[in-house]
Amino acid sequence: MIWRSGALREQLDALRARFERSPGGPSASADEATERLEAAIDRHFAKQAATRVTADRLVGALDVIPQGIVLADAAGAIVFRNQTAASYLTARHGDALVGSLITELIVAAVRGESTTRTIEIFGPPRRSLQLRSVPLDDPDAAGAFLVIEDISERQRLEAVRRDFVANISHELKTPVGALGLLAETLLDEDDPAVAHRLTERMRREAFRVARTIDDLLQLSQIETSDAPEHELVGVDQLIGEAVDRTRPAAELRQVDLVVPPAPDGLAVVGDRRQLVSALANLCDNAVKYSDPHSKVELRARSSGPWAEIEVIDQGIGIPARDQERVFERFYRVDRARSRDTGGTGLGLAIVRHVVQNHDGEIAVSSREGDGSTFTLRLPIGPADPSHPEEPDA
Ligand SMILES: Nc1ncnc2c1ncn2[C@@H]1O[C@H](COP(=O)(O)OP(=O)(O)O)[C@@H](O)[C@H]1O
Ligand SMILES: [Mg+2]
Repeated sequence: MIWRSGALREQLDALRARFERSPGGPSASADEATERLEAAIDRHFAKQAATRVTADRLVGALDVIPQGIVLADAAGAIVFRNQTAASYLTARHGDALVGSLITELIVAAVRGESTTRTIEIFGPPRRSLQLRSVPLDDPDAAGAFLVIEDISERQRLEAVRRDFVANISHELKTPVGALGLLAETLLDEDDPAVAHRLTERMRREAFRVARTIDDLLQLSQIETSDAPEHELVGVDQLIGEAVDRTRPAAELRQVDLVVPPAPDGLAVVGDRRQLVSALANLCDNAVKYSDPHSKVELRARSSGPWAEIEVIDQGIGIPARDQERVFERFYRVDRARSRDTGGTGLGLAIVRHVVQNHDGEIAVSSREGDGSTFTLRLPIGPADPSHPEEPDA
């Protein structure tokens, strides 16, 4: 019995002693009353203990949520803060700024005002925090409630989305604008040779718009398909299909495509169309950013858990500072050159998404002027049953 250890026990014992000393000794009804009192006190303390357990659980739960929570009493004194809130207050750079803003918002909330404020913490890492305070006007528990939320990621995504829309508009407006101008010029042109040239340029611009739209559609399809097809794809077939797509461009640029045979039976599991598209994009770039008469090689091997395909060129290479960024949508090292060669700037973004969908990896190593190697790693699937032998170790 929980209460027996406390001061209440002494009081109850005193009460009992008084009954016993009373003339005629303890009566039955006094005994009964004491029993009832004891039971009521037991129930009270059991309820209090249960409330304490619930409160502990709530505090535990509040400690694991990513938002900071601060509670203040009616005088504005902090009576509770969860671990996230505590971490903002003790953060090396944040504490003074965040701390004074918390105080300010709590004071306002105690006065009855709800307030929302955003604060930049210069870090590192640089973060944006949003603080919201509301008054608590429950007569038994008046005070203030304050939530701190890290909105850096939300802001970053919003910026990416805005850039993306701006980029798309730009990428489409440029060729569409050119088409309009060319058509206008064509209207006044009598020389058939010039008219032919203008028409040829119009065809190229229209083709570019179409390619950009195609790539955008493909990218959005790949981004939204979180569960791609799961079929067994032999690495040699994969390379074969990608090379077939690239061959016309390679012949046009007189680039030699070298494809040693892939290890027998080496296979991956995934969406064949996505995988071929990713590898074809890598081959296409290798050819496009190579000089005539150079060589592009596709090598496949198994390496631990990975089926690894390297696309190696001897082309212009990628400066170190751009190597991370080339996988971003519309990022190009040299805009003019990419445009000349018909690039949309979306190829490597497609590659990155396909790789993510397949739990793979993509890496680039390159030296400016020396060529580039893109390495595509995909988890090895069960051996391709169309090949009798085991894959090479
Ligand atoms: N093999 C490569 N050699 C040199 N630069 C490359 C290579 N692959 C990609 N790049 C650079 O990365 C940029 C992005 O590639 P990608 O997304 O395929 O767009 P693009 O449509 O321009 O080919 C290219 O514009 C180019 O500057
Ligand atoms: Mg490309």
